[in-house]
Amino acid sequence: MSIMLLDNFPKIELVGAPTPIEYLPRLSDYAERDIYIKRDDLTPLGLGGNKLRKLEFLAAEALQEGADVLLTAGAIQSNHVRQTAAVAAKLGLKCMAILENPLQDASDNYQQNGNRLLLDLLGVNIVPAHLDTSLAEQLIAQADLLQAQGFRPYIVPVGGSNVLGCLGYIGCAQEIAHQVADIPDLASVVVASGSGGTHAGLSVGLEHYLPNVSLVGVTVSRSVVQQKPLVEALRQDVAKTLGVSLKQPVELWDDFYKPGYGYTNDTGNDALNLLAQLEGIFLDPVYTAKAMAGLLTGITTQRFAQDGALLFVHTGGAPALFAYS
Ligand SMILES: Cc1ncc(COP(=O)(O)O)c(C=O)c1O
Repeated sequence: MSIMLLDNFPKIELVGAPTPIEYLPRLSDYAERDIYIKRDDLTPLGLGGNKLRKLEFLAAEALQEGADVLLTAGAIQSNHVRQTAAVAAKLGLKCMAILENPLQDASDNYQQNGNRLLLDLLGVNIVPAHLDTSLAEQLIAQADLLQAQGFRPYIVPVGGSNVLGCLGYIGCAQEIAHQVADIPDLASVVVASGSGGTHAGLSVGLEHYLPNVSLVGVTVSRSVVQQKPLVEALRQDVAKTLGVSLKQPVELWDDFYKPGYGYTNDTGNDALNLLAQLEGIFLDPVYTAKAMAGLLTGITTQRFAQDGALLFVHTGGAPALFAYS
């Protein structure tokens, strides 16, 4: 089996050098297990995060199509929208975002601080979402409106999660495989699973580059029953595009997402405080905190299939901390 080279897809360079993998000595002592962290929170643009890897491929397609507006959607505190807007700024494109308030949170902090404040600095044109139709439908309607006004919009899907976006995390899997050559007992990689593109891309990439390492997706907004078909469909589409077949199943844990998308919970908050206080690294409150809660509970409940070191993929999001008190 060979994987078609990612070089066959147009890509613009946004991430640059590989993000570091660091050993977490104090967290490892605490958990009595070796834990490493992949610092995708440190990707260089717009305060970083996982979406930049997806946008390397998505924005390349936008430029190829002659777009002049990146149009996307997400929650008011979306890290995805912030990174899309930063890429638009860097490329000299306009950015329009349809924003929803999944928590119906009326606090000034949620509505104005954190990522939302950064959207103003980035000059994003904001449209409030309707509650009656999906964000995907609203994106298409908004693109039609922009076209009628003479713009050439490119729709960046919610979370950047389509086949092109997932390719970014195949590249990340390749990067990880090079970096963990000196961690021979690496057993599992753990990542937050939201719109699913990061999880799906890693799943295809890790099966190819590190077939003996398992991947656990920790859901941040849905049950396994809802999330699994989403990740499965995405990764099968990616595999088909690249001409590879997949043997390993999708592994998802859903004990840490409640009460739902965009909400914090006590287990996540404990994980967030722990990493800050033991390692000086900030997680975000609604994605990576829940994923880290999954990793730590997975250790205490002996849920990982194999013994050995664990690698946590830090997908970013700390700017949202300022919106959640
Ligand atoms: C900080 C952070 N981590 C993880 C995710 C989940 O990534 P994905 O949507 O690819 O599942 C997101 C998505 O917005 C995010 O902002």
